[in-house]
Amino acid sequence: MTVWWLLLALSSLSFSAGFPKSNKYDGYKLYEVSGKARSGAFAETFSELVKNAYYYQLFSDYKGGSSAKLMVHPDEQINFVKLMEENNVDYDILNRNVGLTLSRQFETNRMLRESVPYNGRLGTERYYTHDEINQYLEDLAKSYPRLVFLKTVGKSYEGRWLKTITITNGDARRNKNVILVDGGFHAREWISPAAAIHLINELVENLEDNADLLLDFDWVILPVVNPDGYEYTQLSADTRLWRKTRKPSSADCIGTDPNRNFDFHWNEEGASEDPCDNTYAGAKAFSEPEALVVSDLIHSYVDRGQMYLTLHSYGSLILYPWGWTAAVPDTEEDLHEVAAEGQKAIQEATGTIYKIGPSTTTINYAAAGASDDYAFNAGFPISFTMELPFGGEGFDPPASDIDHLVKETWVGIAAMARKVIQKYPLVQK
Ligand code: ARG
Ligand code: ZN
Repeated sequence: MTVWWLLLALSSLSFSAGFPKSNKYDGYKLYEVSGKARSGAFAETFSELVKNAYYYQLFSDYKGGSSAKLMVHPDEQINFVKLMEENNVDYDILNRNVGLTLSRQFETNRMLRESVPYNGRLGTERYYTHDEINQYLEDLAKSYPRLVFLKTVGKSYEGRWLKTITITNGDARRNKNVILVDGGFHAREWISPAAAIHLINELVENLEDNADLLLDFDWVILPVVNPDGYEYTQLSADTRLWRKTRKPSSADCIGTDPNRNFDFHWNEEGASEDPCDNTYAGAKAFSEPEALVVSDLIHSYVDRGQMYLTLHSYGSLILYPWGWTAAVPDTEEDLHEVAAEGQKAIQEATGTIYKIGPSTTTINYAAAGASDDYAFNAGFPISFTMELPFGGEGFDPPASDIDHLVKETWVGIAAMARKVIQKYPLVQK
């Protein structure tokens, strides 16, 4: 009798200690469905189906041809699978319990935060908070006062400071060309700020190897465009998949998609007018202070700016304009040539295969009001959205993947920058 009680007590103990607390994504499954779901007779039904945001979250929406990844509510899975089978659409289960994975990752991140405290450097061991990232920029500026300049360029809705770091080679020459990079538009895409930080590290701490990248060019980097969203995704597994900003957009819903909020063909395509949707364009163009900050940067640097690069995840894509229409710019060849350098360098370094092309037809949806189109239209001859590879549930590569992913991204960025430098040399006025 007592033995049984003891066993029971022990097992319930280990249960509460060993299993992460349940969260809102408990039992959600992640499916990958074949491209067939997006073509032929079933396409319409499928589009209608996934519009039900209570049951479905579409993670990647590659229409016609390639596959789509989507997360399905536990109550809907039987129905979903039945529909796929009836219509002969192949599917795979990529994750059987998204909630469990998110809880575990949340725990890992908490532990890593304790075991790898901020010590003046940001390594690739873990993800960092916005405060830590800003602190790091300050510390870099103190350590390298001749190379690095910080500028506070704005404030998020909740009052977090947005700071750019300008990286030079310290020769004090003015009016060099500029490469403008940002990350962290979308809150849940943590690998994006991580890649921006690694880029900063390489340029500042590895100046010798990268001297050519800074000879006639300065780099301006804003690692976290949407810090309110980024911090929100760090609160719990329940909020991990948040994408938007955090400003209330209606009585019931919060947030605007900052990458639908730019004033260029705003709200024309691929954006939602429903404040509760993930791609809500905002009440008007530039309703979000964070998007306005990026547009100010674009205008401040456009005269010298040769490349604008915005880091997102996921998809392993290098996308160039246009994203608001399927039409392509006259200079497509130039854009393609630079993107191809990044693609090639990454494939040689790690084997990862990036797809490159004009945004609308490569990612297979038009989405107007994004920063890449805005920068290109403003005058940056090269403007890219780089979608880093899938990891974990898609948006949450485990911390153990950071090192590999950010190094690979750096290889691609450096290769593209070298091409840009060759194609658009500094013309001294
Ligand atoms: N995944 C990105 C987004 O949805 C892609 C943006 C591509 N650029 C564009 N102009 N549509 O925001
Ligand atoms: Zn994104």
